[in-house]
Amino acid sequence: MLEITDLQVVYPNGNEALKSITVSAKRGEIIGIIGRSGAGKSTLLRCINGLQEVTNGTVILDGENITAMSSSQLQLARRHIGFIWQEYNLVERLPVITNVLTGRLGYNSGIGSFFGYFDSHHRAIALDSLERVNLLHRANFRADRLSGGEKQRVSIARAIAQEPKILLADEPVASLDPELSMQVLSDLARVAREVGVLTLINIHQVELASAFCDRIVGVAQGVVVYDGLPEGLTEPILDRIYRFDKNALPHAEPAPLKESWQRELPNLPNEAVAGV
Ligand SMILES: Nc1ncnc2c1ncn2[C@@H]1O[C@H](COP(=O)(O)OP(=O)(O)OP(=O)(O)O)[C@@H](O)[C@H]1O
Ligand SMILES: [Mg+2]
Repeated sequence: MLEITDLQVVYPNGNEALKSITVSAKRGEIIGIIGRSGAGKSTLLRCINGLQEVTNGTVILDGENITAMSSSQLQLARRHIGFIWQEYNLVERLPVITNVLTGRLGYNSGIGSFFGYFDSHHRAIALDSLERVNLLHRANFRADRLSGGEKQRVSIARAIAQEPKILLADEPVASLDPELSMQVLSDLARVAREVGVLTLINIHQVELASAFCDRIVGVAQGVVVYDGLPEGLTEPILDRIYRFDKNALPHAEPAPLKESWQRELPNLPNEAVAGV
């Protein structure tokens, strides 16, 4: 379903955000992408929905090469790519149902779409999506009257209404308190499983990622340093993802003495060696 091969992104200022990312994923998988700030997680998601020009490598989604598409081809491809942002990106003054219907825009053609008219088929899909996140009773509320957790569930419904091949979520719970984060991530994972859509979630909370994802991809300095089950996230693996430069930090433990120094100081007591 998704094949990312040797993906590299160098920004115009010379920043190499992705060095070489190779990941493949199957339909229905729920994958948590973890890594330190600046690791390249958002850049990676932007490459998958074609918002980011790549320097090298390919992204193949359902047999189509996203990295080789023209802008009009990308526009068509994007209707199958659901995106969930940290800050929801709802149209605040519009009702919830209208926000969810915007997920159908890519499929709505003809004069009706020009006036924002969606026929009963589109409306049924939007209502079904709202029901999946348990917000049917909020369909006619203005979006700005919802709580943060409700807003994010509306944005999940909007993405699902796209009937996507892939769902990309960039830190979807970063603006929510810990309890709501758990509820919203649990909803996202449940709905993704119900509809069987491949889902990639950038997330900073390792415990949440482990609780709700089938698989974890750990990114550090633009490369994948872990790809496996959540249970495999041992301390040494977490060191590789989050603390790869710990010896370079000012308060890091001192590096062991070099062998040559030890040879030069063979008879000194341990305290003296430690003080060198
Ligand atoms: N438009 C840009 N121009 C230049 N450098 C950029 C640009 N966008 C991101 N970067 C750099 O690329 C690297 C990866 O950024 P990215 O936003 O993908 O990281 P991230 O893992 O999503 O971080 P965070 O967890 O903070 O969201 C960082 O060093 C960042 O400063
Ligand atoms: Mg990011």
